[in-house]
Amino acid sequence: MKGIILAGGHGTRLYPLTANTSKQLLPVYDKPMIYYPLSTLMLSGIREIALISTPRDLPDFQKLLGDGSQWGLKIEFIVQDYPKGLADAFILGENFIGKSKVCLILGDNIFYGNLRLTDVVNNFDGGALIFGYAVKDPERYGILEFNDQGKVKNIIEKPKNPKSRYAIPGLYYYDNRVIRLAKELKPSSRGEIEITDLNLKYLESKNLEVKILGRGVAWLDTGTSDSLEEASSFIKSVEKRQSFKIGCPEEIALRMKFIDIDMFDLLLKEMPSSDYSNYLKLVSEEIHFNKGNRERGIVNLQI
Ligand code: TTP
Repeated sequence: MKGIILAGGHGTRLYPLTANTSKQLLPVYDKPMIYYPLSTLMLSGIREIALISTPRDLPDFQKLLGDGSQWGLKIEFIVQDYPKGLADAFILGENFIGKSKVCLILGDNIFYGNLRLTDVVNNFDGGALIFGYAVKDPERYGILEFNDQGKVKNIIEKPKNPKSRYAIPGLYYYDNRVIRLAKELKPSSRGEIEITDLNLKYLESKNLEVKILGRGVAWLDTGTSDSLEEASSFIKSVEKRQSFKIGCPEEIALRMKFIDIDMFDLLLKEMPSSDYSNYLKLVSEEIHFNKGNRERGIVNLQI
């Protein structure tokens, strides 16, 4: 499966923070926002990734992420000339997707908790798979509507009178039909080709699966000043409390075995001293300690 990160858009709600930079390059506590959705894709086991952004911001993403090889990834960059809608990702990404299945994640969405995404990817055998997540402000999102048997019967974009509090987070899995279906979409009244219309097509043909994310998973979006600040506080609290950092591509690449410890140590050597690199040093020490133990026949701590 391939992955697309949609990291363009206007970011108007964050103006003036976004006056001369991309929303998805703004800090969420101790890292650029884009590290979090990238980490989510990596944790799904996805290594071929396309990042879509604006002509203004794409070069900055290229500078930050390179071609991804340092993390055992292959990252391509695709320009979106103007924000035509989320479903545009599959039209712009047609060549990149080729004959694969594809996962789309929004560049301003952060997921935390045990989503078991490698299982999701390994068990995905076609159609579309989206998630539902209970929120307090359903008017802001695409909302699921259920029938009496608890099955999804409709999806409504930003409803004035929401029929449920289950919003659809910005993480979607599709089979290869998505390219053709996206091309068939007509722009909505706000002039965008809507991911909700795409999901409705899968729903109509009974090819839409919806998984409800439970209370053990945090889904944060960072589109407004308040939600951006809340996401930073959330990441800070978790990182301070449990001594693990969230969303470090180097660490995930190592633990997912996309790179080995020698490559990891090399990356570490090139980093200036910071909280981030000090943390990665601890990760390296842990791996060397476990390796030493294995060589001495001692059972390792599972972390
Ligand atoms: P939104 O938050 O809906 O839009 P935005 O980022 O432009 O922000 P604002 O409403 O404040 O102007 O977009 C969700 C995500 O999808 C975000 O990461 C930007 C991205 N996006 C694109 O990359 N291209 C698009 O055509 C659209 C609509 C969004």
